[in-house]
Amino acid sequence: MKGRVFSGARPTGRQHIGNYLGAIQNYVKLQQDYECIYCAVDIHALTTLEGTENLKENIREMMLDWLAAGLDPEKSILFVQSHVPQVMELHTLLSMVTPLGWLTRVATFKEKARMQPHNINYGLVGYPVLMTADIVLYKADTVPVGQDQLPHLELAREIARRFNYTFGDTFPEPQALLSDFPAVIGLDGVNKMSKSLDNHIELAATPEETGERIMTAFTDPARKYRSDPGHPEICNVWRLHHFYNPNQVENIAAECRGALRGCVECKEQLAQGINAALAPFRQRRAELAARPQYVEEVLADGARRAHGIATETIREVKERMGLI
Ligand code: TYM
Repeated sequence: MKGRVFSGARPTGRQHIGNYLGAIQNYVKLQQDYECIYCAVDIHALTTLEGTENLKENIREMMLDWLAAGLDPEKSILFVQSHVPQVMELHTLLSMVTPLGWLTRVATFKEKARMQPHNINYGLVGYPVLMTADIVLYKADTVPVGQDQLPHLELAREIARRFNYTFGDTFPEPQALLSDFPAVIGLDGVNKMSKSLDNHIELAATPEETGERIMTAFTDPARKYRSDPGHPEICNVWRLHHFYNPNQVENIAAECRGALRGCVECKEQLAQGINAALAPFRQRRAELAARPQYVEEVLADGARRAHGIATETIREVKERMGLI
């Protein structure tokens, strides 16, 4: 039997190259050998959103990115978390086997509480429980994610294990699957690439926007003048060349170390590499965006298929817990 994959992302808008290199490229590859389920986790997005007026549009933008990147609704289930409400039921049931201390210890909870001290809501504490519910509702065994999600996956395994121990074997313990680029650094050269830090490059940006943003990227701080020898191993632009100009990385590093190339030309070359790699994606995205109702149809069909699996699991969970 084929294994089952689940993954999700918060619909905060268009996806960036960190999302792609860390997660989406694996979503696409896994479609060959697994039964795949990919979800826009709108309820999770509510834990940090100040306003919800853009939520629907953000879901559409994210889905266009996923579809243009190669997710195939004939092969995979693509849906919106809140359209299959059983996940919220399972979240409540799983919360009964999750000690509060496990949740308040999670680094991402502490980080979010620090970033939004005015809004440390109950949903933030339960974030990893809802994420566990996402995965185990579909009995997924494989979860493609970036490195930042590993603590959540660790907790998901612990919650699944505890449920199985208490009520009998029900859920597989989900394993994370990392890509070769599990932690893409942003244009500031230090932090994880992320929309909230505005250090990102959107997949759907125009070639001009991509070039302009890359020009703002931090490189080797020791390199003040073009004649200073560079240190590519600490330069994020060089790291990105590994993906977008893979055959030239050694050459670029040698020229940088020998002060034979400047950071501006290095960035121009990176922008060219990114724009060349993304040209077919951008073309497909524009075509999909022009098809009226296409995304809505994909999501309606996805919700219907996900609903069938979710209903089965909830029935089994309730039986095991003595509720029915
Ligand atoms: P989110 O929306 O923050 O990110 C979506 C996916 O992109 C990966 N990612 C990165 N990978 C490498 N480098 C980066 N700079 C980078 N930024 C983001 C993330 O690791 C993630 O895989 N909690 C999740 C959403 C979620 C989920 C789930 C994931 C909810 N339920 C169940 C898997 C399974 C999140 O906020 O991802």
